[in-house]
Amino acid sequence: MKSRRLFIISNRLPMTIQKEGNELTVIPSAGGLITAINNYLKNSKANANEFSETFWVGMPCCNPAAWTEAAKKLPRSKYTYLPVFTSSKTYDQYYNGFSNSTIWPLFHYFPSFTEYNTENYHCYVQANAAFAKALIKYARPGDVIWIHDYHLLPLAQMLRTALPELTIGFFLHIPFPSYEIFRLLPRKWQEELLYGMLGADLVGFHTIDYTAHFLQCVRMILGLEHDMHVIEHENRLIKVDVFPISIDFDHFNNGYDHEQVVQTRTLIQEKFSHKKIIFSVDRLDYTKGVSNRLRAYELFLQRNPQFKEKVVFILVIVPSREGISKYTERKKIFDEMIGKMNSTMGNIHWQPIIYQYNSVSFEEMVGLYTACDLALITPLRDGMNLVAKEFVASRKDKKGVLVLSEMAGAARELTSALTINPNDVDEVADKILEGLEMPEDEKMQRLEAMRNRLKQYDVQAWAVDFFNQLHQIKEKQRAFQVK
Ligand code: G6P
Repeated sequence: MKSRRLFIISNRLPMTIQKEGNELTVIPSAGGLITAINNYLKNSKANANEFSETFWVGMPCCNPAAWTEAAKKLPRSKYTYLPVFTSSKTYDQYYNGFSNSTIWPLFHYFPSFTEYNTENYHCYVQANAAFAKALIKYARPGDVIWIHDYHLLPLAQMLRTALPELTIGFFLHIPFPSYEIFRLLPRKWQEELLYGMLGADLVGFHTIDYTAHFLQCVRMILGLEHDMHVIEHENRLIKVDVFPISIDFDHFNNGYDHEQVVQTRTLIQEKFSHKKIIFSVDRLDYTKGVSNRLRAYELFLQRNPQFKEKVVFILVIVPSREGISKYTERKKIFDEMIGKMNSTMGNIHWQPIIYQYNSVSFEEMVGLYTACDLALITPLRDGMNLVAKEFVASRKDKKGVLVLSEMAGAARELTSALTINPNDVDEVADKILEGLEMPEDEKMQRLEAMRNRLKQYDVQAWAVDFFNQLHQIKEKQRAFQVK
C-alpha cells in the first residue's frame, strides 16, 4: 500500500502566479476544490499512511520560463508540483472558452449563457491531451490518479487508453445536470465527455441527484445500464457514487480562538455595535445569486423599517474569471446596485451595505464568520458551497444563523439551516427577519445538529471514503476480469 504514489490532477494549482510589472507574485488560489484538497493534503497523518509520494499536476497559468522563476518563491510543501503547459491561445479557449463558457453555465442550469463553439471544444480536448502526455511520462502501474472537475472530463479515458492498469478516480466539484440539460450539447460532445469520465474506475459526485443524472445520461446516451451504481464497460467495472465534499472542521473550529481572528471579530463587533451583522462571501459568479440577495435585503429593509440603522450587510466578493465578459458584466451590475442602495437607503451615519471586492485571509474570514449574526448564502445553483460549511464549523460559540439556498448541494446535509429558494426574494426577506429574531436556544440547537454532521464527515473522511471505494472497485474489477 505504502509504495503507491498519488497524483492529484486539477486545472489550477494551489497557487496562482501573477505578473505585476516585471515582478512575479505567487498568490494562493481560490475556490472550493483547492481549499478542500489542500486541507486534505495538509493532514500528514492521513497522507503518510496511504501514499509514499504525492504530486499535484495542474496548469500554472504562465509560461515555462516564468514558472521556473516563480518556482523559486514557492513555499515548501509536502507534495511536488508538476506543471502542464499549453499555448496561451489553447489555454484561453480551453479555460475561458469550453470550460467556463460552455460546461460551467450549462451544468449550473444557465443554458442561455452557454456557448457552443467547435474550436473551443478542440482546444479543450487538446489541453486534456497535454495533461495526459505529462502524466504518461511520470505515471506507472500501481499509481493512484485522482482527477478533479469539469476542466478534465476527457482525461481519464485518455490515460486509460495509454496505461490500462492505472487506478483512476474522477471527482466532479460542480453539479451534474439532468439529461434534458446535458443533451443540449452536440451529440458528439455528449458521448465523448461521458466516455471520457468512464475511463475512471470510480466517478464521484457531491449529491445523489447529480449521481442519478449522470447514470441517466449514461443510459440514455451511451445505452449502458448500471447495477447498484456499477457500470460494465469495455471489460471493466466502473463505480459511480456520492461523496459530499467537506472542510477541515477542526481548522475552522479552532480558528475561533486564533489571536488574529479574535482581534478581527472584536474590531468588527465594536465598529458595528448595536447593529445586527449579515455576512456573505462568494467568488464573483452569476451562479451565486448576488443580485437576488441584494434585492431581498432591500425588500427586508423596506418591510422592516425598525431595522434601518440597526443592521449592516457585509458583502465580500472575490474576483474571479476576469477574462470572461459574463463575469465583468456582473461586477458592473453589483457595483451599480450597491451604489444605488447605499445612496437611496443609507444616510451620512449609516451605510446598509459594506462591500469589498477582494479576497480575504483565513483569519479575516473566520473573524467575519464569527462576528456576524446571520450568514446569507443564496446561490441560484451550486455544486456544494463550502462557505456554508465553513461558517457552521467556525461557530464554536453556537451563535449565528445560516440562511441557505436549497439549490446548493450543502443544503442536503445542512438540513437545520433556514433554507430558501433563491428566486423567491419575498421568502429570502422573510427568512432574514426570522433569522435575526431567532431565539438563542434555537440558534444553538440548529448549529449543534449541523456541526455534528460536519465533525463526522470532514474533508479527511471524504477523501478516505473516496480512496476506500476506489480500492474496493479495483479489487472487484480484478476478480471480474479473471472470470
Ligand atoms: C469552482 C470550481 C473549481 C475552480 C474554482 C475557482 O470551485 O469547481 O474547479 O477552481 O471554482 O474557479 P477558477 O476558474 O478561478 O479556477
